[in-house]
Amino acid sequence: MKTPDGLRSLRVGLGDRAYPIHVGPGVLSRADLLADCLPGGDVLLVSNETVAPLYLETARATLAGRRVETLVLPDGEAYKTLESFGRVLDALASGRFHRDCCVAALGGGVIGDLAGFAAASYQRGVALLQLPTTLLAQVDSSVGGKTAVNHPVGKNLIGAFHQPVAVLADTDTLATLPAREYAAGLAEVIKYGLILDADFLAWLERHMPALLARAPGPVAEAIARSCDLKARVVAEDEREHGRRALLNLGHTFGHAIEALAGYGEWLHGEAVAVGMVMAAETSHRLGWIAAADLARVRSLVSAAGLPVAAPDFAPEAMLTAMGMDKKVIGGRLRLVLLRTLGDAVVSADVPRELLLGVLSDVRRAS
Ligand code: NAD
Ligand code: GLY
Repeated sequence: MKTPDGLRSLRVGLGDRAYPIHVGPGVLSRADLLADCLPGGDVLLVSNETVAPLYLETARATLAGRRVETLVLPDGEAYKTLESFGRVLDALASGRFHRDCCVAALGGGVIGDLAGFAAASYQRGVALLQLPTTLLAQVDSSVGGKTAVNHPVGKNLIGAFHQPVAVLADTDTLATLPAREYAAGLAEVIKYGLILDADFLAWLERHMPALLARAPGPVAEAIARSCDLKARVVAEDEREHGRRALLNLGHTFGHAIEALAGYGEWLHGEAVAVGMVMAAETSHRLGWIAAADLARVRSLVSAAGLPVAAPDFAPEAMLTAMGMDKKVIGGRLRLVLLRTLGDAVVSADVPRELLLGVLSDVRRAS
């Protein structure tokens, strides 16, 4: 899986829409990795004002040989809007891009989701190239084809499934990522171990100091293993009719924390970290995982520099906010829980009082 130059390559097996994910140092400069992936037309390279000064010229050079136009948007979740989506579509239409064009998303999950949704919509769908530059985007949002923008009523309410033609996850770009953003990405890495792979979880426990130090080998290994786990789930259940929901461990709790704290206060990965602790606590109180396993979850999350307790929100308010989750069916909350470490299930059967107890106890003292 790994070549001497540190490149790790894998594939998302979706038949005639299968695509490669390349992980490693310097892959953003590797035009050769795109030779068989891109259509022949023009490229719109979309980035933001933080990432563009760092990596736009590298990406542009890699795409050379075709017309490459750029669109640099303001930075932040606050700009993951229909208005920004309109700006990408305007750039495509006024630039007279045709159906054989490609939208390349250079940045974190905000740019990837937004540019991805524009690629899904322009002329009913054009090619999308994901060039993720945050850890979260490299292990999660660039893979699997979920694209979206936010609506004032809720996050990611408007979007589409649209798989990329390739993902280039250049691990060198992580060197400039702020520590808080990096830790937030580690939450999603831990998630894969918890839901799908006890061996990977144990590997993460052993390698967390190296991952925090951003040691190139372990970082690339963690990203490639995370992508591989996600790719398998996506290949099995692309549209989230079943197993893909497991990828949302900690997210129902986490989205409620994000909403109650006010969007932007908590990073998504930070809220998911606490959400995973809440899911583990719930699983323990249901008699599924042992106290020692719960302690392992807490300690790994904490070792990654992530929070393990929510702010002092009223449990009832948390429960109401959790009711906005996309997994709610027929008014019933469905939670991703842990049968054992490395084996998750979706459950709609958690007693309300038990859940309120967890929400009350996994809180910081105010
Ligand atoms: P982000 O895109 O906002 O990036 C975080 C910050 O890091 C931004 O300020 C960005 O400009 C900056 N940045 C990016 N790369 C950098 C680099 N290499 N060096 C320095 N700074 C850099 O946030 P994110 O955590 O990458 O993504 C969060 C978004 O992803 C949310 O909108 C969430 O809904 C979405 N998401 C989508 C999926 C999916 O499956 N599509 C999955 C998880 C999350
Ligand atoms: N981030 C969850 C998913 O892609 O399904």
